[in-house]
Amino acid sequence: MMINFICWQSTKLAWILALLLNLVMMIQVHGQPASSGFISIDCGLRNSSSYNDSATGLRFDPDGGFVEGGMRKQMSQEFIANARNEQQKTLRSFPGGSRNCYTLPSIIGKKYLLRATFTYGNYDGLNKTLDGSLFLFGLHIGVNFWEAVNLTNYEPWAMVWKEVLTVAPSNSVSACLVNFGSGIPFISSLELRPLEDTMYPFFNTSVSIGLYSRFRLGNVTDFITRYPTDNYDRIWQNHATEYPWMDINTTNKVETLPGNNFFNIPSVIMQNALTLDMNNPGVINYSTAHPNVDTKTLQLLPIFHFAEINGSNPNRRFDIYSAGELLFSGFSPSRFQVDSLYQNGRFLHNPNATFRLKMTGTSTLPPLINAQEVYFLVRMDNLTTDTKDVNYMKEVKNHYNLTRINWNGDPCSPREYSWEGLTCDYSKSNQNPRIVSVNLSASGLKGGLAVSFMNMVSLENLDLSHNNLTGAIPDYQLNSLKIINLSNNQLVGPIPDSILRRFQAGLLDLRLEGNPVCSKFKDTYCSNKKKNTIQTMVIAVTVPVVLVSLLVLMCIIWKLCWKGKSDHVDYAMYEEETSLHVDLRRFTYIELKLITNDFQSIIGKGGFGIVYHGKLENGDEVAVKVLMETSIAESTDFLPEVETLSKVHHKNLVTLKGYCQNKKCLALIYDFMSRGNLQQLIRGGDDYSLNWEQRLHIALDAAQGLEYLHESCTPSIVHRDVKTPNILLDKNLVGIISDFGLSRAFNDAHTHISTVAAGTLGYLDPEYHATFQLTVKTDVYSFGIVLLEIITGQPPVLMEPQTFHLPNWVRYKIAMVNIHDIVDKRLLDQYDVSSLQSVVDLAMNCVENVAINRPAMTEVVSRIKELLPVVARGKFSGSASTSSMNPMDAEIRRKFQLTISGVGNEEKSFRSGYTGGMSELIPLSGR
Ligand SMILES: *[C@@H]1O[C@H](CO)[C@@H](O)[C@H](O)[C@H]1NC(C)=O
Ligand SMILES: *[C@@H]1O[C@H](CO)[C@@H](O)[C@H](O)[C@H]1NC(C)=O
Ligand SMILES: *[C@@H]1O[C@H](CO)[C@@H](O)[C@H](O)[C@H]1NC(C)=O
Ligand SMILES: *[C@@H]1O[C@H](CO)[C@@H](O)[C@H](O)[C@H]1NC(C)=O
Ligand SMILES: *[C@@H]1O[C@H](CO)[C@@H](O)[C@H](O)[C@H]1NC(C)=O
Ligand SMILES: *[C@@H]1O[C@H](CO)[C@@H](O)[C@H](O)[C@H]1NC(C)=O
Repeated sequence: MMINFICWQSTKLAWILALLLNLVMMIQVHGQPASSGFISIDCGLRNSSSYNDSATGLRFDPDGGFVEGGMRKQMSQEFIANARNEQQKTLRSFPGGSRNCYTLPSIIGKKYLLRATFTYGNYDGLNKTLDGSLFLFGLHIGVNFWEAVNLTNYEPWAMVWKEVLTVAPSNSVSACLVNFGSGIPFISSLELRPLEDTMYPFFNTSVSIGLYSRFRLGNVTDFITRYPTDNYDRIWQNHATEYPWMDINTTNKVETLPGNNFFNIPSVIMQNALTLDMNNPGVINYSTAHPNVDTKTLQLLPIFHFAEINGSNPNRRFDIYSAGELLFSGFSPSRFQVDSLYQNGRFLHNPNATFRLKMTGTSTLPPLINAQEVYFLVRMDNLTTDTKDVNYMKEVKNHYNLTRINWNGDPCSPREYSWEGLTCDYSKSNQNPRIVSVNLSASGLKGGLAVSFMNMVSLENLDLSHNNLTGAIPDYQLNSLKIINLSNNQLVGPIPDSILRRFQAGLLDLRLEGNPVCSKFKDTYCSNKKKNTIQTMVIAVTVPVVLVSLLVLMCIIWKLCWKGKSDHVDYAMYEEETSLHVDLRRFTYIELKLITNDFQSIIGKGGFGIVYHGKLENGDEVAVKVLMETSIAESTDFLPEVETLSKVHHKNLVTLKGYCQNKKCLALIYDFMSRGNLQQLIRGGDDYSLNWEQRLHIALDAAQGLEYLHESCTPSIVHRDVKTPNILLDKNLVGIISDFGLSRAFNDAHTHISTVAAGTLGYLDPEYHATFQLTVKTDVYSFGIVLLEIITGQPPVLMEPQTFHLPNWVRYKIAMVNIHDIVDKRLLDQYDVSSLQSVVDLAMNCVENVAINRPAMTEVVSRIKELLPVVARGKFSGSASTSSMNPMDAEIRRKFQLTISGVGNEEKSFRSGYTGGMSELIPLSGR
């Protein structure tokens, strides 16, 4: 039975629900399935498409009702067929916001297992797990850090899961994904499983435990064991082993002594075990470490589950070590009865997660082990915001339909993720943070004043100015409010007595100016001049200060005016004296105004500013790129860059005609290109379409321009932002590269936000992320994408029907249909078949993931040149020759491997190649 979720606001309702749920629990004993209370969410699933999972029989629901932001995504087509389960096929990714939370209903104080799974599936076509860069994001359990998800070097189809055992802090449990700036967080599924209160007596409201690994041993065919075998749907991984490891089993039931209800291990798990061959007695060494989990900082809590399942009356006795520390000495497992060994609540330092079972001298049998769990400590030090404050803020959010990206999760906690506009009081360290100030000024609020604000007993400062609030001011019983700013809204009177009295008593600073109510009232709260008995004192201090400041200001202005020429007041005074040592015309701001006809005609907009059309005195048409003011402040590299550009002369590179430089404006003046840019031409309207030959010529032009930058300049100039919008076309359709060097010049200003900013999405060299080094091969990669766009007419990232990176789309089409399916339909089959194959090969060569495998631009140029005469002969053909290259077939799928290393004759070790803490599943096709 599933619970129907509703969002309850009042604690009373929660109480009733809790009682109801308890009833459900009690009924469960009499025939309800163990899955009662399970919440199973398939993230990214379309709304109203719940289904029953074939392996577990559990019902999975879409995530729409549990999360606000994010985008639904699907794993890439190539992996869908081999998906291990339904949940892996869809996911939700969170490109926006630094923290995004799922909120699941729970019973306050109850113990839960919360599991999140992650299968990247190359959903964005960017090959993020294997592109050599770090792919890492964080998980929070509520307001506390839980674990990092490190998917670096994982195969895209791998399933990784994270579990935490936690106590619900309120009537909901939340799990949040946190962006670390190393890849967009995503999630495939989320599962909440109630545990018995007696279970795992090591965690409570201030300590949770995260799963590091959980495995069972013996000859088991299933790779994982979970619900319905395990009533709590814990995932037990199975380890296959080889000689001298011995699997033993029994059909006898393994009992749990009454009163031992800490773990409730299914009997079938305990009926299998691992031991050593009798001829090889000694030591079992094993490690559960995983390369993607940093164990060094973790504090581990191992739990060993043993049962003697040898039918005879054996003498088996062994010592148990963790990282060399003896934990249990001379332990002898009981026959057909569960013995779980753990150190109550003691967390151990064990950086390699190594354990050892060592036979004692008197034992006649080697050690044995049936199952083990390892958890790590998750501190729950940070407290959630006061529940009432949270609920009131959620009411406000709903009332005004606020969709602020960072208004997600807990409002105050943890501090660095608190909601924008809120100020919280954290001063009482053992009490929940309270909200003391709310600033929603100029937030586009509409409608009446939300009553919720007035119920917040800690709120002292409320700023709702510059919104569109309408209606009357409600008669609030103000609690703690000291400042309320309602200025510049549409509020009407009268002002309630309760508010007026507090104002008149000097307990409240009220601001109402700019509201219709002020047409009737003329009190100080209706003028923006502050008046108060206290404020006269303030005036006494501020007036002299202001006067002095004014004097200083006047002096500055006076000085500046003397320096500058008085006629060009605006900007001329910023004109700097130092000129560049370049052979270029320097324009003044006034001249720019003149040639652009007061900046009237915009011909383009880029990351760095706006491009205007202009006409020089001699009639030459020019493009004037004016850099945005924000960029100017950070443009220390700009001037040296202009010097470089002034030295670059090539027929396929745009010519810099001049520049303008002063504190208010930086501008570059280029030749005007009448045919616009390549992107407009290949994806613009249907009125004009480039033919095949023209396309190849433009490709050659661009290649030659880049070759010049790479080979003929010392040091080489890396363009960094090669893309179709940066390839301009003159009136003869000659391709001319623009914007070169600029991205390098603006490096510092634009890369601090994220590492992907050194270029344009879809054109980015995957290797750049790994090394953060720009090489000429970075441009080759982007050029490969341009070439593919020229062939296909498609954008670098396709959005429909699903997200595809262009190279993958091309591979996919070629593999699934044939090479002709990728060609731009506007070519109407008028292209040369043999040159098509060669251009595609060349393009795919340029977009090789590994830079050294990409050709140099010189080679690219000569390869395109070879193709052109073929075209020139005019041998157009539409007939299909199915030569297929299928890079996907060549993909070798990494096999899961279990490493077993025997140490001498005495010691045998096994090491899991994966662990539950960071677990990987290979798709078992045709399971
Ligand atoms: C992803 O990157 C890896 C390593 O560079 C490469 O072997 C693989 O072919 C790439 N896969 C796709 C789909 O691009
Ligand atoms: C609690 O929050 C602080 C910052 O607000 C953070 O530095 C710290 O890591 C958090 N503690 C936990 C256990 O998440
Ligand atoms: C493992 O179990 C299968 C049956 O489930 C059996 O055929 C096989 O012999 C067993 N292997 C070992 C090593 O016991
Ligand atoms: C159980 O053990 C017996 C030997 O004791 C073996 O023959 C049998 O295959 C095992 N069964 C499984 C399922 O491993
Ligand atoms: C993430 O995993 C990669 C590959 O195993 C590893 O090199 C890297 O150090 C890990 N990063 C973190 C922060 O754990
Ligand atoms: C952990 O493993 C590394 C390499 O395998 C080894 O050098 C180190 O001594 C080990 N540390 C401990 C505490 O066992």
